[in-house]
This record gives sequence, C-alpha cells and structure tokens, in this order.
Amino acid sequence: MNRLALFGGTPVRRDGFPSWPIHDQQEERALLDVLHSGRWWSGTQAYHDANSVEVPSRVAAFESAFAAYCGATYGLACSTGTAALEIALKAAGIGPGDEVIVPPYTFLATASAPLLVGAIPVFCDVEADTLNLDPDRIEEAITPHTRAIIPVHFAGLAADMERIMSIARARNLFVLEDAAHAHGATSNGRHLGTLGDAGTFSFQASKNMTAGEGGLILTDDPHLAELCNSYIWAGRKLGFEWYEHFRLGWNYRLTEFQAAILSQQLTRLPQQLATRMSNGFRLNELLKGIPGIQPLAIPPWVTLHSFHLYILRLDANSFGVSREEFLAALEAEGIPCSGGYAHPLYRNLMFAENQFHANGAPLSPREPHIDFARYVELCPCAEQACRETVWIEHRVLLASPQAVEDVARAIQKIYECRREFQPTMAR
Ligand SMILES: Cc1ncc(COP(=O)(O)O)c(C=O)c1O
Repeated sequence: MNRLALFGGTPVRRDGFPSWPIHDQQEERALLDVLHSGRWWSGTQAYHDANSVEVPSRVAAFESAFAAYCGATYGLACSTGTAALEIALKAAGIGPGDEVIVPPYTFLATASAPLLVGAIPVFCDVEADTLNLDPDRIEEAITPHTRAIIPVHFAGLAADMERIMSIARARNLFVLEDAAHAHGATSNGRHLGTLGDAGTFSFQASKNMTAGEGGLILTDDPHLAELCNSYIWAGRKLGFEWYEHFRLGWNYRLTEFQAAILSQQLTRLPQQLATRMSNGFRLNELLKGIPGIQPLAIPPWVTLHSFHLYILRLDANSFGVSREEFLAALEAEGIPCSGGYAHPLYRNLMFAENQFHANGAPLSPREPHIDFARYVELCPCAEQACRETVWIEHRVLLASPQAVEDVARAIQKIYECRREFQPTMAR
C-alpha cells in the first residue's frame, strides 16, 4: 500500500476537480445583451431604448422562469439570500416580541434574519443523521411568542416538511423554508421552497446556481408576494408612481446583469443536479463498510437531492484518525474538503455577548437577557456535528464517476494507512 500523500506518498488524485462556477459563451452573450440593451436595472416598470423599443426586464423573466421551474406561483428576486429571509419574515408580519425557531447548524443568515426584523431566534437542535431541524424537538422550543419556523434543507437534503408543517399548522405558525442549498431539490416530487408558506434561495458564489450574489423568494400567496416586492423595491407598489412609498422598504433589487447570468445558470441546473445526485449516491455506496465513515442519511421523502455539499460524519475512534488528521490527509490525497462550521451559531459572540442593539440588530436594550449558553446543553447533535463532519464541495460531484471513485479510494487509503499517524490514539 502507498504511503499517505500527507507523509510523502503519491496522492490518489492529481487531476483536480471541476472549478466553480461553470460558465461559457451562454453567460457571455447574455451579459453582453444586457450591456448593449441599456437596461441595466430592474427598478423601472418600463424601459425604452433609443429607438423607443421596450426592453423587457431580465429580472422579471428570471423570476417567472425560476418560479415555474419550482412549481410556485410567485418568484421575487432580491440582492442576497439573507435579504430574502429578512424580507419574507417582514412580509409575514414577524417583528419585535416574536420568536422564530431556527436550527443552530446553518449559516448565520437563518438566525440573523429574525434579528434583523426585531424578533428573537430560538435554536432547536438538528437530527444527528440528516443535520436538519429535528421535528421531535420543535414542540419543546415553542412558547406563546413563537410565530415562525425556518427549516433549512441543509446541503440540499429535504427536511421533514410533512411533520414540520403539521406542527406549524396546528399552531398557526409561519413556515419559511431556507432553501439556500436546495436549488432543484424535491421532497415527494415537490420542489423545496414550495412546501412552506414561503421559501428562499441564495445565488451567492458557492451555491449550485450563482451570479456571484443574489436571492429569491418563492410563495403562492399573492398578498405576501406583493409585500415582498414592495420591501425589495423601497416600499413602492406596482402600478403606482416611482416616488410613492407605502412602507419602510429597502433597495434589495437584483441587477439585470445578475438575472441574465442566473437565467443561463437555470438552464444548466437539471443536468448538473442529475450528475451531482448520481455521483453523490454512488459515493454513499462506495463508502459503505469503511469503519467510522457515515454519510448523511437519505430519508424516504427525498426524491431529488441537490448535494450542495457532500457531507459525511467521521467517528474518529472507529476510523482511527482524528477529524483534523483526516481532513489534512484527504486534502493531501487531492480531494478538497473542510470541516464546515467550527461551532453552532449560538456560540458566535453576537449571541454569546447578548448585545444585539450594540452589535447592529434593532433589538431594544430593554429586551430581556437571553441565555444563549443554555443551547450548548439543548443542542447536542449540532455540537457533535461541528466536531465530526467532513464537507466536500458540490463541484467535486460534477466530476466523472471515476473521479468520484478517487474520493472513496482516498478515504479507504487513509483508513488502511491510519497507523502512519503518530500513535496518540488507538488505531
Ligand atoms: C443556509 C443558508 N441560508 C442563507 C444563506 C444566505 O445567503 P446569502 O449569502 O446569499 O446572503 C446562506 C448562504 O451562505 C446559507 O448557506
């Protein structure tokens, strides 16, 4: 057997993996079309070029195309996934005095969006095997102040929406799906982002569809859609003059350039989704039987998994290598990887110090002290996930099936060569 590449052996893979984002003349042409059209922004109801010909908005076209692809009635594009979460909460009337249930194993935006509308995020633990909000724990987190739940479809794997919706419906809670990782993913054949009252997406650079930045809200509710549109658009209303402002909005618009790229990215999505999924499921198979390696579980309702991340859990004692050693060894074998979040969200200083008003959130200094430290006890699965997970970026799954076999070979090699590490643990 080879020596580990980390200690001077030959790496399993030298050829690398596809880079991300993927683009070609399609995106180039679309960008140039916008450039030459003169219509660079979406914030006008009608734009005419020098020959008085109306130039349709590419943002509007993208909103319709993405909503239709997902099977939703309305798509509202905006500047980021963070803005999408904030706007959807605001449009649902969530505000000061309200509590919003969120998982702690996610990007900050899931928990900062409630704060940005003046509400309090209440952390509820995730399931150990899927890293999604644990429906068994949601009831414990509900108080008389609870108004909403934000399930995240982490890594593009569908959360248990049937149970989450039934808990929410029984208590009249607003459900906002954070589908930032879940472009094209489905649960029982229905697109993620269309199963709750609203769903949000991110088009930030790492996401499975990207224009560098960008966000979008899906909903079937016409009133919610109208409010979202207004908040994105400085509090204006469609059909009224540009100088009429009806509520406190912001400028959260997507540009025509971004929409032009995203429309092209959307055409690539179905094929990329199929490739990631077939490689992701194959990798699950190939890793079966390696001691201490546990890919995320695939619940029965998952029909399409977007594999924004390929995540596995490493039980260091069974595998015989610590997570940090494993990450260094896998990287050296030519497989890009990381450990993901170093700690759950509530351990960030902005929560731990409990000074939201001082740190930019609009909560009053009179707000009662919230003991975020208690979540260390309440969220053992999120705590453990931060110690055990290994993340592999979705671009790795866009490689050939042979390249993906290299990922499994590299992990098998690390296991077989585990005694090359210093004997600090039983191997
Ligand atoms: C789960 C999740 N929600 C929300 C967001 C926010 O998206 P954006 O970066 O576009 O603001 C992200 C982005 O990283 C995310 O991973």
